[in-house]
Amino acid sequence: MLLITRFGLTSAIAVLFSAASAQNAFTGAVGFGAIATGGNSGATYHVTTLADSGNGSFRDAVSAENRNIVFDVSGYIVLESAVSLSSSITINGQTAPSPGIGIMAGEVSASDKSNIIIRNLRMRQGNLDSDSGKSAFNMGGATNIILDHCSVAYGQWDSIDGVGITNITISNSIIAFPIGQQFGAHIEGNQATYFGNLWVSGHNRQPLSKANSQYINNVVYNYQAGYTVANTGGVFSHDIIHNYFIAGPSTTSVSNYYYQINAGQSVYATGNYADTDSDGVLNGAQENKVGSAVVLSAPWASDSATMADRSAADAYTYVLANAGASPRDEVDAFAVSTVQSLGTEGVIYTNQASTGLSNGGYGTL
Ligand SMILES: *[C@@H]1O[C@H](CO)[C@@H](O)[C@H](O)[C@H]1NC(C)=O
Ligand SMILES: *[C@@H]1O[C@H](CO)[C@@H](O)[C@H](O)[C@H]1NC(C)=O
Repeated sequence: MLLITRFGLTSAIAVLFSAASAQNAFTGAVGFGAIATGGNSGATYHVTTLADSGNGSFRDAVSAENRNIVFDVSGYIVLESAVSLSSSITINGQTAPSPGIGIMAGEVSASDKSNIIIRNLRMRQGNLDSDSGKSAFNMGGATNIILDHCSVAYGQWDSIDGVGITNITISNSIIAFPIGQQFGAHIEGNQATYFGNLWVSGHNRQPLSKANSQYINNVVYNYQAGYTVANTGGVFSHDIIHNYFIAGPSTTSVSNYYYQINAGQSVYATGNYADTDSDGVLNGAQENKVGSAVVLSAPWASDSATMADRSAADAYTYVLANAGASPRDEVDAFAVSTVQSLGTEGVIYTNQASTGLSNGGYGTL
């Protein structure tokens, strides 16, 4: 009797805690990374130049903790080397004047850091970075990180690398056109949320998630493999709810919307659709059989059901209108129009220039 009471009390506290934590990062933040407070209460730092370094630069802005970073300039910052973030910072890309702010030609790294909020930032590494072992965004070993309304493209190793994470969210973001290994996100660790993202023309890892995970309202287009666990790294629980997988010209095996999800994994999958006929019309069918995983009859995470209030079809409309950094620029408009071809357009690129977009494929900001 006492045990039951104590269990009930603990659950109630856990629910209250998760409801409260969702407001920490910013209004509307969801998932495990929403626990981050970043530099919200810190000193405001104004980025005043697109220069790689020096006073007023992005590199200088992120070089100290407890900063709330805003942008007085717009355009691309062309990195001369990887830029390393400090813990407890908030990067408010939405403060940049139109057409917004982007980072190109190098990796943005939160490796081994904690408590970081990044919003409305374009991170486009591309092969102007000579280090093909780096990614567009790296959060290896990092804790309590939320990436929201970001646009990540042209990653060489991965678009997003996060081995050894704790409590991360990737939400409302466009993760497109990985080059090099052509991978979306490689996440391993403890508790990851992927919500409302648009994954475009990746070979694999959209994401690879060796973690207890929430994968909700994502749209994956022109995949060779979609949601992947890989048959190594341990046994995890996965809530896979109301996602839309859409095959494209590069899709060689349509049923690889779920990939390498072995018998040890536990999966709650409902309301997921796959449109596999590449006929230019959104007309998928439900696909909730996830490999040989153990089938859960309810979500493992307490907030997955409320997070999943859009159907897969509604998620398609919402994500195409909403995902990525705002305002939407040339690269993201191209990513979205590629998806809107619903099967007829899409290339898994080996370099950004092959997109044919301006500025050597990076698009003009
Ligand atoms: C650095 O930039 C800030 C903001 O633009 C300015 O107020 C300050 O005087 C600059 N400091 C130096 C050493 O140039
Ligand atoms: C991760 O999030 C959980 C809530 O889901 C929280 O209890 C835990 O303290 C967080 N971990 C860290 C290192 O903050």
